[in-house]
Amino acid sequence: MKNAFLVTALLGLATATQAQRTAFEPGKVWPDNHGTHLNAHGAGVLFDKGRYYLFGEHKIAGPKGNSAQVGVHCYSSKDLYNWQDEGIALAVAPAGSGSEIEQGCILERPKVVYNKLTHKYVMWFHLELKGQGYAAARTAVAVSDRATGPFRYVRSYRPGAGQWPLGFQDEWKQPVPGEAALKWWTPEWRTAVAAGLFVRRDFAKGQMARDMTIFVDDDGKAYHVHSSEDNLTLHLAELTADYQDFTGRWSTIAPAGHNEAPALCKRGGKYYLLTSGCTGWAPNAARSFVASSIWGPWRQLENPATGADADSTYHSQSTYILPVAGKPDAFLFMADRWTPKNPIDGGYIWLPLSFEGDQPRLRWADRWSLGVFDQPRPKATAAQ
Ligand code: DGJ
Repeated sequence: MKNAFLVTALLGLATATQAQRTAFEPGKVWPDNHGTHLNAHGAGVLFDKGRYYLFGEHKIAGPKGNSAQVGVHCYSSKDLYNWQDEGIALAVAPAGSGSEIEQGCILERPKVVYNKLTHKYVMWFHLELKGQGYAAARTAVAVSDRATGPFRYVRSYRPGAGQWPLGFQDEWKQPVPGEAALKWWTPEWRTAVAAGLFVRRDFAKGQMARDMTIFVDDDGKAYHVHSSEDNLTLHLAELTADYQDFTGRWSTIAPAGHNEAPALCKRGGKYYLLTSGCTGWAPNAARSFVASSIWGPWRQLENPATGADADSTYHSQSTYILPVAGKPDAFLFMADRWTPKNPIDGGYIWLPLSFEGDQPRLRWADRWSLGVFDQPRPKATAAQ
């Protein structure tokens, strides 16, 4: 009797701590099934066989927390509100092992996609080699047979080595006398950047790849989008059919525009890209772009955020745009509220992404649920 009472009491406690969530509360502590704040920063989401998988940087407390001490954390969910801890999907290698992903490297913004040809889960992430700050500027790939891992590290890349971007003119392939002396604040310098000043510099060793995302198109082709050229210009590079390498086809987006934190979605046949400016861990105003072809041209639109704190994207920085399963043209904007002094405390800003014509829009909500996507919404117009 006494024991039964104890069991009932314990069950009651367990139910109370795991109360089902029915809404998003942007910026608030977001407990997982153990009651621990989600530890998946710079995250992306995979939807696979009826379940969502959240992958993000596992941060620790204190000053070391912005370097990778543990690896990539995975959670899974049926409804996007309640997340079950699935553990570490990609673990860093032991310190001193000499591995490119050894403990203390910088491992950011992991994104996982499923490849239908190989039946493998492919994870890409921004990798900085231990002890080199942000100088290596690489992207890296890991592979698994299961969504939750364990992922096996494959290799890292500087993409585009020895390959000119699409549309790169022949006369841009040679250095222009005097271009090295151009000042970065002049229109001449911006023109020189658009004409390949930095693409030429990194042609042989490969282009820099820092903040990144992966986008899979309706036809199954996947693309890697990354901040390159000292974070001045975004590059979009096509992945091979197995999603584990680059085909060599790539293009530039917004030369000298200083964009990072890219997040992409497709609606009504058009491609939408949200980014941030480059201010380290401090938030800034988001940017938005639209294109009828993923290869561009991309047209820059307005800051998508509206209302109070729009100029800091509600104190956050984009990381992913998630198409909500089963709800056509319903997109969820995911962003990080970084806390670099104690990185484990970083918060998550998930908001519905709406559209006014071509213009993506964000509006703050203290509390919201997926039901917002069932309200009447403007229909997407077909791409021209
Ligand atoms: C901003 C980036 O978006 C983050 O992923 C991280 O690289 C910080 N910069 C580092 O300052």
